[in-house]
Amino acid sequence: MSNTLAPMRRQILDWYRQNGRKTLPWRNTGNPYHIYVSEVMLQQTQVKTVLERFYFPFLEAFPTLEDLASASLDDVLKKWEGLGYYTRAKHLHQTARQISKMPETIEALIKLPGIGKNTAHAIAAFAFKQPVPVMEANVKRILCRIHKLKTPSEKQLWEHAYALIDKKNPFDYNQAMMDIGAMVCLPQNPLCAHCPLFDICQGKSMPEGYPEKKKKTVPLREENILISLCSSGRLSLSQRSGKFLHGLWGFESVEIPPHSAQYIGEVTHGYTHFKLRCKVYLCQESPQKQKHYFDIKEIDTLAISKADEKILKLFLLQCEKDSS
Ligand code: ADE
Repeated sequence: MSNTLAPMRRQILDWYRQNGRKTLPWRNTGNPYHIYVSEVMLQQTQVKTVLERFYFPFLEAFPTLEDLASASLDDVLKKWEGLGYYTRAKHLHQTARQISKMPETIEALIKLPGIGKNTAHAIAAFAFKQPVPVMEANVKRILCRIHKLKTPSEKQLWEHAYALIDKKNPFDYNQAMMDIGAMVCLPQNPLCAHCPLFDICQGKSMPEGYPEKKKKTVPLREENILISLCSSGRLSLSQRSGKFLHGLWGFESVEIPPHSAQYIGEVTHGYTHFKLRCKVYLCQESPQKQKHYFDIKEIDTLAISKADEKILKLFLLQCEKDSS
């Protein structure tokens, strides 16, 4: 089997030499920590966003594992602001506090907070040049198409991935597979005629049928948000302690807004598992000891969620309206 795949692997590597995104900075470093940071950022975020807005500033702020470990979680979250899925930042920070050097084996990597099977494989392949495959979403799509798999199990996918990998050059092979998925084997209208896997692809006559698309219906979560404004013009925000958006600062969510509160509008934000719709209310209150109040400049320095950013914008718009 592996001999018959030799020409295919050569074609994959040739394609990568000619077309791959070889200048991506995490492909041009031998620093395992930098590769780790890139892989965590890329777990749920597109290459363009990570490259243009987050990778360099994060590493400038925390150039080493040690720097990350000695930073406060607030500072780490602030640098992560806008990237979303904040548990990733919390886990990076926890991991930095647990280790002084990136471990090299998949078994040791996978034990660390926030490092799942795919990220462990990616770090092993990219930082330590181990002959193991990576399995991000683009690679999964390729494997489904070449083997005509509609609803494969994770186990099946990993078996196929291990069977195809080029053990002599796992670094370029894995980067190539991700690029083929991102540039050729597209979810819609894939460019099969340009694909180096054309010869072995069993699904090329109906690529969009593999894998089968799951219909996603996300539930709607409705909240009432109360912006408490104290006499000095400062706003009350609290730091979230639950699992969701842990550590981020945000406005208060209330069951029933007080009668005196003014309704100022609605804000929606889409998360992976639900859509959030917030009715936003504004109330004046005298400062309360147990609450934290911030002016707009101070809020700018806090890590807040996208939804709270939208709420803040709505509040500022309301202030403009009230003053005109
Ligand atoms: N997604 C996950 N890892 C990646 C990498 N090394 N290059 C491009 N996209 C990726």
